This record gives sequence, structure tokens and C-alpha cells, in this order.
Amino acid sequence: MTASIPHFLLERERDRNESTRGGYSAYAAHRARQMALMGDRRGERLAVLGAGNCNDLELSTLAASFRELHLFDLDEEALDGAWRRQNDDVKRACHLHTCDLTGVASFLEAWKAAPPEPLEAQLAAWTKLSAVATACGQFDTVLSSCLLSQVAINLRDYFGIVPALNSALVAAISGHVMLAAALTKPGAAVLVTSDCITSRYPIREEAQARGALNAILHLAAQGAAFPGTDPELVASLLTSAEFSRPELKDAWIWDVGSQSYLVYALEAVRHA
Ligand SMILES: C[S@@+](CC[C@H](N)C(=O)[O-])C[C@H]1O[C@@H](n2cnc3c(N)ncnc32)[C@H](O)[C@@H]1O
Repeated sequence: MTASIPHFLLERERDRNESTRGGYSAYAAHRARQMALMGDRRGERLAVLGAGNCNDLELSTLAASFRELHLFDLDEEALDGAWRRQNDDVKRACHLHTCDLTGVASFLEAWKAAPPEPLEAQLAAWTKLSAVATACGQFDTVLSSCLLSQVAINLRDYFGIVPALNSALVAAISGHVMLAAALTKPGAAVLVTSDCITSRYPIREEAQARGALNAILHLAAQGAAFPGTDPELVASLLTSAEFSRPELKDAWIWDVGSQSYLVYALEAVRHA
């Protein structure tokens, strides 16, 4: 499935994931927040979108709550590495899916040469993603795990600041959120976590003064969020008659090496 993913994207994510592959212990605080979000959710099938190295989840705990763990990412090596770290029971529960979760990857080269109209880009992306949704079926919980900012940064660096960037970004972000919703069973929850504001902004001071959630809303209102990750935008993409109103469940600071990010968690439940 990686044949249609441009070299640029694959190299990018492989390099990044390789640099954090041994970082399970460094992810402890972030992982604890993600696992708290998973709480006592259980069921037959869990989908993790942007699973990568799986440093941000305890797969052994999740395997006690879900019969099947479906791990999705464009980086096959990261998924394989995460799988190899697990014990035999967890390995048996895991199903690895190497694919693009934005629908735009296979169009990037063509769009660089001839920028698409925004609607045309969204339709093209959704054609790809609806095939993923049909092939994979629905899940008892769907977690999109800090993938949106990577998508935004990759597209910015691939296109530069040109009109095609906007069409591709809108198609990728809205397509990904629609995919996460489409994978969610009636009665089940879709969760989107996203790092959204870097420590180039005063995230610690704001979080201390207002709490992390209000710090995100405050700084995002001033345009500090990575394009495509503003929680109000993502909540609006999750809003539909089929789902409960998206709710911001938690927010925290994620320290990764020398950088730190404000992260939020959004949840919506598909009506039974
Ligand atoms: C910041 S990481 C998330 C952390 C990851 N769950 C972990 O614990 O290592 C974002 C993940 O999204 C994946 N990703 C980025 N763009 C993608 C795309 N278009 N399709 C699928 N996966 C993508 C990357 O390969 C990476 O593993």
C-alpha cells in the first residue's frame, strides 16, 4: 500500500519515527494522559490512527480491553517495531495497516504541478479514504493519535506557501476526521488527540495561569495553533447529526526532547 505514498512523506515519517523508536520511557507522562483517556473503554475492536511506534499507548493494557487492536500508519517499519516489542498475546491481538490516513498522499505530485480546486481535492481524498473505511469496517473505539500536526507540517514543507497547500491541507484534515468518524460504530466513541501549539509560544505560563485547556483556546484564538489543528476547527469537522456534540475531554503539555506542545483530546459518540 506504500507504493502510492510519495518518497518525501515516507522518508520524513520514517526519519522521525526512527529517532523516537527507543523513546518509550520518555513518552511516559504523555502516554499516561492518553491511557487515562482510554479509561475503561472496551469492546471487540480498537482502531489507532497514527499508531507509529506506539510509544504513546500501552498495548498490553489495551489488549486486555479489546480483542483486536488495529494499528494504522503510513510507516510500516514503525508499526513492525511496535509489534515486535509486544508479548505473544498482544502480538496476536494486533492487526497492522500500512496506509495513508489523509487520502491526499497519492495526489501530491500532480497537485504540485497543477493546484486543484479545494472541493476537487476533498472529493479526491475522500474517494481514497472511503475505500479504507469500507475495507476495515467499524470499531468500538477509534483514536486518532497526534497525527494532525504531522500532516500539516509535512504538507507545508512539501508545497511551501502556495495555493495548492490550502486545498491539500483542507482535504487532508477534513478527510482524516471524516475517516475517523466513518470507522466509528453506532454507540462507540471517536477520540482525536492533537498537539497544536509549540513552546515557541508561552504555553507553560498560559497553562499555569488558565489551565491547559483554556490556554489552548486562548492561544489558538490568537492564531498560534498549527494550521489544521485548531480544536474548534476539528470539533466543527466532527460535528454531525450522527454524533454527540464534540467535547474537549482533556489537555496537557507534551515534552518531546527539547520541544514541548500543548495537546488536546476531543471526543464525540456516534448515536446508537
Ligand atoms: C507524532 S506521531 C504519533 C505518535 C505515535 N502514536 C507514537 O507513539 O509513536 C504521528 C504518526 O502519524 C503518522 N502519519 C503522519 N502522516 C500520516 C499519513 N498521511 N497517513 C498515515 N500516518 C501518518 C506518522 O508516521 C507517525 O507515526
